[in-house]
Amino acid sequence: MSPQQVKDKYDLIIVGAGAAGLSAALGFLRSYDLTGASAYPDVLVISKLQSLRSHTGSAEGGIAASLGNVEKDDWHWHYFDTVKGGDYLVDQDMAEILAREAPATVVQLEHDGVAFSRLDNGKIAQRLFGGHTSNFGEQSVHRTAYAADRIGHQILHSLWQQCVAEDVEFAEEWYVTDLAIERNDGAEATCSGVVVLDTHTGELHELKASNVIIATGGAGRLFHTTSNSWDLTGDGLALAVRAGLKLEDSEFVQFHPTGLAHTGILLSEAARGEGGVLRNSEGEAFMKRYAPEHADLSARDVVTRSIASEVRAGRGVADPLDPDGPKDCVWLDLRSLGRDILESKLPEVYSTIRNYAGIDAATDLVPVKPTAHYTMGGIPINANGEVYDYHDGARHIVTGLYAAGECSCGSVHGANRLGANSLLDACLFGHRSGVAVAHRVMDAASDAPLPDAGTRALDAAYADRKNAIAAILAPTGSAASDNASESNPYALMSALGGLMEKDCAIRCNTESIADAQRVIKTQLAPQAEALTAHSDVAEFNQELTAIMEVRNLITVAQVMLAATAARKESRGSLFRTDCPERDDANFLKHSHVDAQGAVEWEPVTIKDFKPEARTY
Ligand code: FUM
Repeated sequence: MSPQQVKDKYDLIIVGAGAAGLSAALGFLRSYDLTGASAYPDVLVISKLQSLRSHTGSAEGGIAASLGNVEKDDWHWHYFDTVKGGDYLVDQDMAEILAREAPATVVQLEHDGVAFSRLDNGKIAQRLFGGHTSNFGEQSVHRTAYAADRIGHQILHSLWQQCVAEDVEFAEEWYVTDLAIERNDGAEATCSGVVVLDTHTGELHELKASNVIIATGGAGRLFHTTSNSWDLTGDGLALAVRAGLKLEDSEFVQFHPTGLAHTGILLSEAARGEGGVLRNSEGEAFMKRYAPEHADLSARDVVTRSIASEVRAGRGVADPLDPDGPKDCVWLDLRSLGRDILESKLPEVYSTIRNYAGIDAATDLVPVKPTAHYTMGGIPINANGEVYDYHDGARHIVTGLYAAGECSCGSVHGANRLGANSLLDACLFGHRSGVAVAHRVMDAASDAPLPDAGTRALDAAYADRKNAIAAILAPTGSAASDNASESNPYALMSALGGLMEKDCAIRCNTESIADAQRVIKTQLAPQAEALTAHSDVAEFNQELTAIMEVRNLITVAQVMLAATAARKESRGSLFRTDCPERDDANFLKHSHVDAQGAVEWEPVTIKDFKPEARTY
């Protein structure tokens, strides 16, 4: 879908059409009061994919909310679990909103058409998930609302259908290359729009907008083994960094414990929620040893590190498809569930295992290993989704710029996100950002016009991008003369993924971080800058987009590594072998890192829960 006509200026441009972007669009339109408005607001949702291919569609296990449909639950418990699961690097005012507004968010999704699984009494079914407990840590609680193991598909399709019903305009397979922030004469920073490539025609557009919401998802493709689809190349994060902003807490990358061996494809935590257990090469259900309270239903950082410890202790297993390969997996044992439960509650997990590994999980053990899943850090936002730049000990709002979903960092997940809190974050804060923009636009309409930021930065970004694309498409250089060249964006992505996995995944230290920084600086970044496409045709040139994607990944990797180097402690998903303890005295604070690797630290908001030791 392409827009019927490209407008001169938009009230709102949303970049990304997953759960966050679509929730933002609906939040905007449903709170925009058309009564008395002189014109319908101009809103455009831009997606580099056809919208229904957004990564939200592959979310499996569910969405957390203390509905209490199976047993007593309380949003205060959800709030506590989120803070504790995030290893206390969570801004508690934000986590409170997340937990308090979660039930209403799930009910709204139900009204929007999400076909949740049901209990016999007709209420939305809920299952166990890691780190979600009752009574402040006592025992696991059924908090995750689900639709078999296809919740993402349900949410994506329902939100998209609602957007179509609301006549939302989409620009699909359009790739945003630049975000413009005007900084005129010391005035406050103001977003003025985006530069975007129509990948169908190869035409570059300069789109002015009073408000932009970035909702582009994460950056799982930084790592070789990942549950993320190919498009998760950290574009929104890189857009922000190149526009002069900093990323918050980017050193925290979640490795989901159960990626299917050799593929990294997600096998939902719901598999353990329904009774699956992890076993080592000796058949031991080892999680009881590491985390006696909640065992296999501990938070992901704990389970992933326990798997890594088993592998290092020599109790790992090889992937049966590569029996002579490394013993870097453990077993996921789903046999006790039986075929009926597997088929009815976990059909996606069951069929993925059968189709990609040739294993019948009802009768055989499944090899799994941790897989890069989620970036906890991102573009810093407040409760309305407004982006801010942290410097000189204060937050400075970037007028007209918002972010939502995985690319944003509202600090609700801290150093480790609880399963099922991601869709919740995306829908809830996506919605809030849309509502906030609606009020901003309506206030301006009824009062004074929105301040005109000018478009100096936007014009410059457009001109620079035009030149950069022309250079990539120039029919000269090694790539054009040598089609077999290894120097292509896909080979570079693979090299980057391998490097980050070796030096930075699950465990790292000063030397490994420095090694990754050196290789990127001296080899991969220059190679990425030198890339040219093998075809000089701009229309449907996927290599052109891939070159910009790998450059984005490299930008994000550099910020991430600088943040990792600066945080000399272990917390949540970050485990540094040279600083193995959490250090609240020095690092109970958020990192904010810019393109040059300079770090500012912002205090964590502690309201109700004092940091305590964590074992699960
Ligand atoms: O395991 C899962 O189903 C993943 C859920 C999540 O990351 O929230």
